[in-house]
Amino acid sequence: MTTALLEVDNLSIGYRTASGINLAVDGVSFRVERGGSLGLVGESGCGKTTIGMGLMRLLASNARIVSGQARFEGEDLTTVSEERMRQIRWRRISMIFQAAMNALNPVHRVQDQIAEAIITHEPDLSSHAVAHRSRSLFDLVKIPESRLRDYPHQFSGGMRQRVIIAMALACNPSLIIADEPTTALDVIVQNQILDAIGTFQKEMNIGMIFISHDLAVVADVCTHIGVMHAGSMVEYGLRQEVLDCPGHPYTRMLVGSLLTLSDEPADLAGLVSPTPNEPSISGGCPVQTICPNATAACRRGQADWVALSRTHRVRCQHAGEQH
Ligand SMILES: Nc1ncnc2c1ncn2[C@@H]1O[C@H](COP(=O)(O)OP(=O)(O)O)[C@@H](O)[C@H]1O
Ligand SMILES: [Mg+2]
Repeated sequence: MTTALLEVDNLSIGYRTASGINLAVDGVSFRVERGGSLGLVGESGCGKTTIGMGLMRLLASNARIVSGQARFEGEDLTTVSEERMRQIRWRRISMIFQAAMNALNPVHRVQDQIAEAIITHEPDLSSHAVAHRSRSLFDLVKIPESRLRDYPHQFSGGMRQRVIIAMALACNPSLIIADEPTTALDVIVQNQILDAIGTFQKEMNIGMIFISHDLAVVADVCTHIGVMHAGSMVEYGLRQEVLDCPGHPYTRMLVGSLLTLSDEPADLAGLVSPTPNEPSISGGCPVQTICPNATAACRRGQADWVALSRTHRVRCQHAGEQH
């Protein structure tokens, strides 16, 4: 097997809270190939952002990587020094945050903000090269060059989010983590941004982790899908395998709602995932409280991974049974 761009192995991340350690990410493993895109999908609180922030080593001060590895271009992100991480962060791995468009500086022209993003990481570039890079980034995210001299308030929300994407691409990263990059936007603009993301990802052969609570969005842009619930990944596979032959009852619920309620897609925005330490699921399958197939065995312990194909695996005691 070729080396993946990123290989996350058994990653667990906990938050220290007044009532003890909240294990927000519990033994998660996945790979991202160069040019590939993994959609991490699951309801609010299931640990998606914590994974992204953990990989960027931007976790809150009460968080700790409890175990696991994240090998990226030959280095383990969980153990590299903070000094080394400063060289990797934004240059080799960059992240787009939800509603980041509201974070642009209102008093600077967008071209200056992009230029600053480039110069911060590549101080030796000539001003000519910086201007050239800015124009090609705008081209990539489909903002007309004539808008480079505008201020953020002259842009719509969708345009500003494109500027944020351009800034995330400014240093030619090989991995980009997009955390709900379109959630704050209306559906039409969302589709345009997803198109722009698809374009740069192909043109730059970049690896991407695309985080969303919306399976429909993930299904649109990703080559692989990882379904998460309560800090665990419960299914992982090629996009088409997960959508066509979902092996986990939770994934089947998501895919089912995608198919039957076209006006109400599998949008998990309003749902909140339990945490792995919640007494109702502690020690057992993370999905046991909402799963129609849950049995005593599911309450006793979490299943091992079952391979449904070389590229598709599921974590369910009942995988392989007829439904
Ligand atoms: N700073 C924090 N301190 C304590 N718990 C946190 C903190 N940040 C997030 N959490 C908890 O970690 C879990 C995962 O959160 P998060 O990664 O933000 O989920 P998602 O991005 O999937 O919505 C949730 O239970 C959340 O309440
Ligand atoms: Mg989140």
